[in-house]
Amino acid sequence: MTDAASSPPAASASPAAAPTFQHFIAGEWCASASGATFESRNPADTRDVVGRFQLGTAADVAMAIKAAETAGPMWRRTPAPKRGEILYAFAQLMGEHKERLARAMTREMGKVLSEARGDVQEGIDIAYLMAGEGRRMFGDTVPSELPDKWAMSIRQPIGVAGIITPWNFPMAIPCWKMMPALVTGNTVVFKPASDTPHCATLLVELMVEAGFPPGVVNLVTGTGAEVGDAIVGSPDVGVISFTGSSATGRSIAATAGAKLKRLSLELGGKNGVVVLADADLDLATDGILWSAFGTTGQRCTAASRVIVDRSVQDALLARLEARTRTLTLGSGLDASVDVGPLINAGAVDKVASYVDIGDREATLVVGGARAIGGELDHGHFFQPTIFAGVGAMDRIGQEEIFGPVLSVIPVDGYGEAMLALNQTRYGLSSSIFTQDVNTAFRAMRDFETGIVYVNAGTTGAETHLPFGGWKETGNGHREAGHVALDTYTEWKSIYVDFSGRLQRAQIDNQ
Ligand code: UN1
Repeated sequence: MTDAASSPPAASASPAAAPTFQHFIAGEWCASASGATFESRNPADTRDVVGRFQLGTAADVAMAIKAAETAGPMWRRTPAPKRGEILYAFAQLMGEHKERLARAMTREMGKVLSEARGDVQEGIDIAYLMAGEGRRMFGDTVPSELPDKWAMSIRQPIGVAGIITPWNFPMAIPCWKMMPALVTGNTVVFKPASDTPHCATLLVELMVEAGFPPGVVNLVTGTGAEVGDAIVGSPDVGVISFTGSSATGRSIAATAGAKLKRLSLELGGKNGVVVLADADLDLATDGILWSAFGTTGQRCTAASRVIVDRSVQDALLARLEARTRTLTLGSGLDASVDVGPLINAGAVDKVASYVDIGDREATLVVGGARAIGGELDHGHFFQPTIFAGVGAMDRIGQEEIFGPVLSVIPVDGYGEAMLALNQTRYGLSSSIFTQDVNTAFRAMRDFETGIVYVNAGTTGAETHLPFGGWKETGNGHREAGHVALDTYTEWKSIYVDFSGRLQRAQIDNQ
């Protein structure tokens, strides 16, 4: 660590220039060993520089891991209810600062303000939930098969947790990962997406204020190739939690697998909404538009496929098209705006390339181009786009686009709809619109996803239930809910024999 500063963040000399922010290592705000910084810009107006951030190096990561290791024994011996009290204080601080955090989020990554408030709220919710785990963290106390013998199991922390997070939920997801890691007694090295370092810095500032002791939480900003790889490759990081692209997830899994490291992955999605002939089409339209174009389609849980019964396809498409044409694009800080920008220029290029593919595979209904003109020229905007007549196995019906592009796939009846829904490598979220309770229960049984919604869109997961996906969406772990503790703890089974003699289990109980 170099140039350790005593307070966050050190503003740059010129008041007109964007402020420079620092890493947080061993309880100190500090510069990178590289001496280099990178910018974060507002995706709705790229003239607006949010700040400059430390371009982290492997050496910075090594110091952060050392700090986390050093703090480990103190933190794991702090009684869990006391750890929980610090989480509780953090939740309260997030609540007090909710509006400031939400505005900073909209400025840095573009989602409209009401959604940014929801993102902060998810952070608050998981912090309160996990604060409570400080007083639960249940193990089992069970009878022994032998007399005068006690048997129980407890959870213990793994050690240093490497937390690598995406930009699309830049406060909720770090909290989903850090809160269970910390309440269970792990210490943390946190590497946020390089598109949202300011959101991460604001969170860590509040964590410091809440009272997490030095070394318990360490923040290193920078690239995945340098900072992320150093965290994943370190033998001293016992558990990694990563949310992001499937390609990066596979590479992390290869490294972590070779080192037999605990790893929780939350990767791609191709979430489908099934609309059957008996559906309430107005309700389905509301659910689809919210799920497809909310956060500009950049949610893991975004709906990117609508699987509709052919008999209601035209009626649904007419509603979707009409409503999509009314959506206003612009800065998410403007209350009249429905859809904000994409995260960066690369995302616009990727969406545009999928629209080209869609033009060859299906029929464009609405949208299909970059959104330009006036203020939009300064940001990364793309029109909300719908394709009809998509085949279930077409590329736009199969591949994750992570933008405002919806594919409508016609089918005949529940059986075909269920097959089309499941015909994907991903399995995060799904939904069905039907008024028939028997069909709804069939879908709850048949859909191969970690989350199923009935008569609602594909987004809206609540923090006290498990969150995660089947198949290539993940590797079997879940975030949120009490099951999130499984990622960050080792089980220890304990036997206490108070008989005063050797009792041999499985032999002396015959
Ligand atoms: C994500 O997109 O990675 O259900 C998280 C939802 C939100 C969480 C999404 N509560 O869409």
